[in-house]
Amino acid sequence: MSNESLFKPFSLKSLNIKNRIVMAPMTRSFSPGGVPTPEVAAYYRRRAEGEVGLILSEGTVIDRPASSNDGSVPHFYGDAALKGWKQVIDGVHAGGGLMGPQIWHMGIMDNHPSGWLPPTTFEGPSGLNRPGFNNGNTMTDADIADTIAAFGRAAADAKRLGFDCVEIHGAHGYLIDQFFWEGTNERTDSFGGKTLAERSRFAIEVIKEVRRAVGEDFAVIIRLSQFKPSAYTNKLAATPEEMEQWLTPMADAGVDIFHCSQRRFWEPEFEGSDLNFAGWAKKVTGKATITVGSVGLTGEFLAAFAGESSAPSSLDELLRRMDRGDFDLVGVGRAILADPNWTEKVKNHRTADLKGFSKEALGQLL
Ligand SMILES: Cc1cc2nc3c(=O)[nH]c(=O)nc-3n(C[C@H](O)[C@H](O)[C@H](O)COP(=O)(O)O)c2cc1C
Repeated sequence: MSNESLFKPFSLKSLNIKNRIVMAPMTRSFSPGGVPTPEVAAYYRRRAEGEVGLILSEGTVIDRPASSNDGSVPHFYGDAALKGWKQVIDGVHAGGGLMGPQIWHMGIMDNHPSGWLPPTTFEGPSGLNRPGFNNGNTMTDADIADTIAAFGRAAADAKRLGFDCVEIHGAHGYLIDQFFWEGTNERTDSFGGKTLAERSRFAIEVIKEVRRAVGEDFAVIIRLSQFKPSAYTNKLAATPEEMEQWLTPMADAGVDIFHCSQRRFWEPEFEGSDLNFAGWAKKVTGKATITVGSVGLTGEFLAAFAGESSAPSSLDELLRRMDRGDFDLVGVGRAILADPNWTEKVKNHRTADLKGFSKEALGQLL
């Protein structure tokens, strides 16, 4: 099948992307003390040189004392870390690419296996990481206000350093998603509530603050997932109507692009249609969307953490959906983590040179 549609340019506000390939955000834990190193900068630059259209950084945490559970996850605050990020974006631009940081607060976490702990207790909407597992504080109004402000400062810093967009991490069971999910949000104040729309207030306040910080013309992405690592089959929105009630206020608050995280992009979101999450998000909001999940690979990413390898796979089903107009951009994770030249190889039909993914790739910055 022709892969032409993957290599058409895409423009939205501050983004003029040469193709539709987005490097998905992937935590690498190669930033000791939270500071991205020259090796981290070189890793991202190789992806730009390998013709990735838009790079989204690994999750990088905002300025709250317990925003991380891992001492080697990069910060997006403080002089040393921001200097490191400046090297990253300058390298990516020199390599011909574009990039946005994925700004992140992990919320309530399991303690990291390394034994590293943040200086204060983890914080979240109700102290819960998942139903029945409490590992931290319930955030006060002051904590919430400061966290919203910290997201805004990170977004302003992204723009000031020269990044091309910013992505808010609202997926995968971390802080923002802990507010969305009834299983982790038991609040009875205006940040909780019976409906998903009510539990979205925190996300909406974050989006408004980020939008205020970067102005109208800078592209703002939010990453969302229905699933959590502790609940694969979870649906925050059980019907298209609920999805519309969930996403529309976020679009109105300032989101330009919804990054719709699935483990397998071909899985339908709701019965009765083969549209996936990104397909529905675009349909109900009219906004641009990014799909993601096992693009070009045979196995999905959470199994990859348990050591499962994946071989290269056909892009035909992806292209069928893309050509139908389901989504605008395509996130690619492990295939690009394992091979900086994946995009260039796909573009030039060098199928025999595609490598697949095995867990050894996680231990190094290839
Ligand atoms: C090593 C690794 C780290 C990841 N870290 C993040 C992260 O920091 N933020 C995020 O939103 N998703 C993260 N993900 C999920 C990926 O962005 C992507 O959604 C997932 O790997 C599915 O895409 P793939 O099948 O192309 O790999 C991570 C995935 C992997 C493999």
